[in-house]
Amino acid sequence: MARAYEELSGGMGRKILFRPERYHAGSLFRDVKPIIEIEQDTYVVRDLSMSGFLLVAPEGGHRFARGDKVEFRLLLGESVAHEGSATVIRMEPHGSGAKIGLQLTDGFINIPALLSLHEGCALEQLVEEGIQAEIDLVPGEYRQLCSEAVFLLRRTKEILDRNDKREKNRTSMLPGEEVTDLFEARCEKHFLASWDAIRARGNAIVQPLMSNTPVIKAIKKFTETVLTPELTIAPSYKRAYEKPLGYPGDFELMKYFYSGKRHGDTTYVRLLHHLVNIHPFSMSVPSRMREVKEAIRQTVATTKVKDRPVRIANLGAGPAREVREYLRTCKPEQPVHFSLIDQDEKALAYAYSQALPYKMAAGDHVVVECKFASFGQLLKNPELLKEMAGQDLVYSAGLFDYLPTGIAQNLVRALYSCLNPGGTLIVGNLKAPTDGIWSAEFVCDWSMIYRTKEDMEELVAGVSSDYDVRPEPTGYTYLLSIKKPQ
Ligand SMILES: C[S@@+](CC[C@H](N)C(=O)[O-])C[C@H]1O[C@@H](n2cnc3c(N)ncnc32)[C@H](O)[C@@H]1O
Repeated sequence: MARAYEELSGGMGRKILFRPERYHAGSLFRDVKPIIEIEQDTYVVRDLSMSGFLLVAPEGGHRFARGDKVEFRLLLGESVAHEGSATVIRMEPHGSGAKIGLQLTDGFINIPALLSLHEGCALEQLVEEGIQAEIDLVPGEYRQLCSEAVFLLRRTKEILDRNDKREKNRTSMLPGEEVTDLFEARCEKHFLASWDAIRARGNAIVQPLMSNTPVIKAIKKFTETVLTPELTIAPSYKRAYEKPLGYPGDFELMKYFYSGKRHGDTTYVRLLHHLVNIHPFSMSVPSRMREVKEAIRQTVATTKVKDRPVRIANLGAGPAREVREYLRTCKPEQPVHFSLIDQDEKALAYAYSQALPYKMAAGDHVVVECKFASFGQLLKNPELLKEMAGQDLVYSAGLFDYLPTGIAQNLVRALYSCLNPGGTLIVGNLKAPTDGIWSAEFVCDWSMIYRTKEDMEELVAGVSSDYDVRPEPTGYTYLLSIKKPQ
């Protein structure tokens, strides 16, 4: 419903400050990376907006302090895209180096013009160097694999489209209906077996090369150019590859994994959509959800408190399907307070709308509270962390897969500090080694950090010795469970 002008409100809290949209440089400038030059030193641009940059400097690679005024040049390949002055407004450690925030003090960055310049530079680079150099880095057996994959996809499309057309034109309901279903099922069975073989070959080729950055980059480029466009006609592949909300694994994609339904206008597109749903990583999403739901059930059943609710917090909540499933199937009789935390407001709105009918049916003693916040805010803001204290269960699944070790360790420490005595922290992370990396990293440009059992144990180092690391039933995700002593 449209609102009257006097009813429209602006942002609240920090959101009241308008910030120009920020773009991740790696996603925007895929072929030629923008570089900032300051007094002959060069820095990689990580993010940019119309009014500034976030730079990354290696260890000992800068001599700036907050408030410094600098003259800079923005370079794209050989071209100077912008010259101007800026102030250093942010400095923070980043690995062994630093992140440096620059705010322009004159002019502005014309991002559409920069993108046009980038396309020109990329084309020039291609003409000058030719495509052979890029192709030569891709192993021959990998090129053959991609051509076989494309052949398989196109042949399957041809057959299924022809069948769709015949079905559409069929006027009478002859016994053909059964035959058609059988035909589709047979076709799918053969296709899935062939696709599995392609996935296995893809994984086997890339696994030993993962530390060879130039080759891996070339393989990614080759896959995304040759194979990915064949697949992104399906809604699941399109979303996984294009990341319309700006980050991988958004709640809409999670919804696909939870529902398992086939989307698409044709049998072929529905089959491709289904391919993502039955990928082992996708299958491990509902599986880990069921494990977390069971942990919620046990926590509520075993936490004996009279004067307060059982408190449960979920970081990186996304659709929080386990909360809905728990409320739908368990109907708790004692007071329970859920805190769902996510940096995506739309995900929270969805999670809340899903849980609400069951929360209402359970009664007033069940509270579902959503917090629109990032874990970065939790780590930086002691007040926010204090508000989260007193939890009986804290869990996070599908977030740690993106966090480097140092940050992940800090987060484990912070979340553990929010537990009551006897409380449990559960952290999910995709398992290493894995045979699922090819489709995610190469076909869908979806990078994650896979962790071994030892890597999971490293996250809890110095926090507690009372922990357990085990895979959920599909075997693709580890669940680290840490218990706080009574
Ligand atoms: C892969 S989804 C997993 C969602 C859910 N836990 C599940 O298993 O269905 C990752 C979620 O983490 C959230 N997220 C990403 N970065 C975050 C951050 N910095 N702080 C809080 N949440 C974050 C995303 O918005 C997204 O909803």
